[in-house]
Amino acid sequence: MKQIVIAANWKMNTNLNEAIDLVTSLKKLLSSSVKATTIICPPFVYLPEINSILKDSNIYVGAQNMYFEEKGAFTGEISPSMVANFCKFVILGHSERRSIFGESNELINKKVHAALVNDLTPILCVGESQKEREEGLAEKIIHEQLTVGLNQIDNIENVQIAYEPVWAIGTGIAATPELANEIMDGTIKSTLKSLYNDEQVERVPLLYGGSVNSDNIEEYVSMPGINGALVGGASLKSEEFSLIVTKAESVIH
Ligand code: 13P
Repeated sequence: MKQIVIAANWKMNTNLNEAIDLVTSLKKLLSSSVKATTIICPPFVYLPEINSILKDSNIYVGAQNMYFEEKGAFTGEISPSMVANFCKFVILGHSERRSIFGESNELINKKVHAALVNDLTPILCVGESQKEREEGLAEKIIHEQLTVGLNQIDNIENVQIAYEPVWAIGTGIAATPELANEIMDGTIKSTLKSLYNDEQVERVPLLYGGSVNSDNIEEYVSMPGINGALVGGASLKSEEFSLIVTKAESVIH
């Protein structure tokens, strides 16, 4: 059976009350959803509260980022073990972390190592900008993000990869399912297969991200190389997000 993973990236949104309402509502709406792995990634400060609400549910909690060092003088940062108290997943290398906060592939690789050591499943994000696509560099950029981001990582089956073309994030201009599949089943899978054996690679969930909503989710997960989605804006409304999960599940036979 095809693995389906739907992850919500709330980014820097919601106040505490909104976060509690949203997740409480999702818990109810998704109580009978069993086929998809559903992950909610709220801002750090809400993790304890959200984790306690979702403790006895079928929804997992994830963080949006973390630092790789275990402890010390790193003002403002959060360590992997701090995250692991509340989460099973962690988004790493999101394009907003790369472009706004200057995260390099090398730094992201350190974070991937640290996540795995702490039994966190990293959701490693890759994807090209508009300019890189126009210059014909998309495949090269993604290949590099993967090879450096996964340097010295053996247990690839404990990693998830999200393909998020920067030009599709928050723009309403989603990549066509065909284009997303071409990159994911093509570039991403062939890069992974150059690093790991086929059996390992087939176990890695590949998520698409960028303007996903309840109207287009089925088209993505129907593609052979796409296992699910990393959802931004549309994950901030409980009805819409639960519809995304149930529609994604509907493609599994
Ligand atoms: P949108 O779904 O708002 O385009 O955001 C995608 C994203 O960045 C998820 O990580």
